[in-house]
Amino acid sequence: MEKAVKSQIGVSARLSVAPMMDWTDRHCRYLHRLLSKRALLYTEMVTSPALVRGQARHLLRFDPAEQPVALQLGGSDPAELAKAAVMGADAGYVEINLNVGCPSDRVQSGCFGAVLMERPALVAQCCAAMIQAQPSEVTVKCRIGVDDQDPEVVLPEFLARIVGAGVTRVAIHARKAWLKGLSPKENRDIPPLDYDLVLRMKGLFPNLHISINGGIASLEHAKELLDLGLDGVMIGRAAYHNPTDILQRADAVIWGDDVGPDPLDIVMQMRNYIDAHMVDQTRGGGKLAHVTKHMMGLFAGQPGSRQWRRYLSENAHRDGAGWAVVEDALAAMEQVAAA
Ligand SMILES: Cc1cc2nc3c(=O)[nH]c(=O)nc-3n(C[C@H](O)[C@H](O)[C@H](O)COP(=O)(O)O)c2cc1C
Repeated sequence: MEKAVKSQIGVSARLSVAPMMDWTDRHCRYLHRLLSKRALLYTEMVTSPALVRGQARHLLRFDPAEQPVALQLGGSDPAELAKAAVMGADAGYVEINLNVGCPSDRVQSGCFGAVLMERPALVAQCCAAMIQAQPSEVTVKCRIGVDDQDPEVVLPEFLARIVGAGVTRVAIHARKAWLKGLSPKENRDIPPLDYDLVLRMKGLFPNLHISINGGIASLEHAKELLDLGLDGVMIGRAAYHNPTDILQRADAVIWGDDVGPDPLDIVMQMRNYIDAHMVDQTRGGGKLAHVTKHMMGLFAGQPGSRQWRRYLSENAHRDGAGWAVVEDALAAMEQVAAA
């Protein structure tokens, strides 16, 4: 199964859900996979020190139903990243992605993320070490540059370096990161997008699988970018906030397969998963809200969606909250929809 998933991963990468800290955890990915059988899913970033030196092995846990799923690593030490990549491949991840895009302070201080746009030779060493150490595909998620770098110059140089190290697939967040003065959130909106530059990279690197990321909020826009010659589109916030809108039709629009289940079916399909999670709770594990926080957007744009969200956010975190809360949230929504 893993072998088949691996050989198809470039095809799956035509549409992917971006790695997002605190958002794309295993519950979120399980939900997204019910909506789309095809889209490539990413974990949240896990740092290589946390995996190799810390006690973060539990963060690698995932359900085989999530496949194809890629592990995103943060780090800048080639030997440590290689070890973390081995741990990821052993856990079953079919892709190991290196984060060269995240601008947060904590990450800068450890020399991870976007600041590595200034150190392409080191990034190439990291990629080569990860490729050499394990069999899963190694990819990079980067920006077009940082601070006063000229993206026209640094992006092609950066891509040439990683291609030289053996990387065959990259996701480019089509805006700079400004490392001084902007919060991580502002860094996802304020630096201007330059899709054109990313498109030109496809001309310069025809054999590199290039996914574009940043500000893509509909499947139609994703399709337009694919039609312009890009190999993949990576969607972050829109897929999280409007999972039905982006993912339910994704298999049909992007791959010509069937449309996914409607959101009510999805809620029902989550029941067994939620029940299993509640059993975990007796071992000191899960709460209902861990799962339902990712389900808030399922009915976005539909009558009663506000009541659905409100009921869940007010009740799912309470002690003992279980499946009945989800049923009550559906009832609250249906009451409004029927009025
Ligand atoms: C809450 C949140 C957390 C994020 N965490 C990560 C992360 O761990 N690794 C990463 O490479 N990018 C991270 N990002 C950036 C996204 O992957 C993506 O590049 C960005 O949101 C732009 O895409 P979008 O406009 O489609 O959302 C995060 C974004 C958000 C909103």
